[in-house]
Amino acid sequence: MENKQSMMYIGGVPCHKLAEACGTPLYLYDEKAIEEKIKSYQTYFQSDLFDTEIIYASKAFAAKAMFQIISERGASLDVVSGGELYLAMEAGMPMDKIYFHGNNKTDEELDMALQYGCKTIVLDNLMECKRLIEKADAKQKEIHVIIRVNPGVNAHTHKYIVTGDPNSKFGTLIEDRVKILEMIHAIQASKYVVYDGFHSHIGSQIFDAEAFHVTIERMIGLIKDLKEKNQIETRCLNLGGGFGVRYTEEDDPMTTKEISHLLIEKCEAEMKKQEVTLDKIMIEPGRSIVAEAGYTLYTVGFSKKTPNKEYVFIDGGMSDNLRVALYEAKYDCDIANKMGADKTNCYTIAGKCCESGDVLIEDVMLPKAEENDLLVVYSTGAYGYSMANNYNKMRKPAVVFAKNGKARIVIRGEEYQDMMRYETNEEVRI
Ligand code: LLP
Repeated sequence: MENKQSMMYIGGVPCHKLAEACGTPLYLYDEKAIEEKIKSYQTYFQSDLFDTEIIYASKAFAAKAMFQIISERGASLDVVSGGELYLAMEAGMPMDKIYFHGNNKTDEELDMALQYGCKTIVLDNLMECKRLIEKADAKQKEIHVIIRVNPGVNAHTHKYIVTGDPNSKFGTLIEDRVKILEMIHAIQASKYVVYDGFHSHIGSQIFDAEAFHVTIERMIGLIKDLKEKNQIETRCLNLGGGFGVRYTEEDDPMTTKEISHLLIEKCEAEMKKQEVTLDKIMIEPGRSIVAEAGYTLYTVGFSKKTPNKEYVFIDGGMSDNLRVALYEAKYDCDIANKMGADKTNCYTIAGKCCESGDVLIEDVMLPKAEENDLLVVYSTGAYGYSMANNYNKMRKPAVVFAKNGKARIVIRGEEYQDMMRYETNEEVRI
């Protein structure tokens, strides 16, 4: 992001030109920033003791162009549904780099994974484990698995994005050795399903290094226990994602380098201490790869004063950014055509959806806002487009990638006709 002559530039492209060409709201990514994040994880998440793998959690932002960056950089991909797997296939992502997650994969999804030759399934529970074995053995197709374990670590983040709570719907509790062993024994008895190791993910937007330390201690403890008591050889450990990013100046996230070093050093230390060896440690960052590389552009419409507030209305809202209504997420913004101007006014930025909760930013200082100004909201690259919706029949905005002064549309904006595609009047034959 640069700031030339009070106009904001992203990826070397002036925002107002993009808004003119593509309309608003518009999701805009600085492509180089995404590439640099991936590269940085690949550079710093390295050890002499074991191999490492960076797996992008595609739920943060899933698009063909994004998956192509991932595959060009040699990173891997986490998918959680048939839809994300299908997109990965369409994008030409190598199937031996796919990790298929989810607590309730359907028969259709498990069949798809086997048919596509997806390398690894992240097993959530015993029922799923048995179903996959049945299918792989019947089809005589080899598939690798890692078992998702809930290490019971409570990271301090919003309750909707915590997963380490003992009552979480995800994974099998680390204390439940009987169930974990039942899964591994069933896998070992299968000719086609291959046990590789474990997975844990304790939540999202985490700043707390201690939560990762405790997770690593517990997971390596589990691996040691299973080896000593049950002669089970574990090859790899996936530590999930969840690394915090900066939405506003109140957030002080670790850099990619810092979080990588923290995890690697702790894994090395615990492996030495607990006398465990592993072939590979993986991480699964989603948000931290795309959040800060993404911006949303809106056009300012009407404004209005109430007894205690001055509202500025924009042409999008909770349909393109659900995170505020869902998690009380905080964002920062600027007027892209008035960069550098004095911030004299305190505004509340509200969307145009028919719901009082459709307020994107409360009490933000900005230069005087006028109709047709271009508002830029920062750090919207993760879980923005991927949670966009058609509430009030709002159209999903286009997504643009900008790099070295050039921009390309990677997902076109929806038209009203697109939303009519599924309207029908067909008799249901029963
Ligand atoms: N791995 C697993 C198994 C996950 O469940 C998730 C996120 C990730 C990796 C990536 O986490 P990240 O690095 O992106 O924090 N919609 C919410 C976030 C939900 C996260 C779900 N799982 C939000 O907008 O904050």
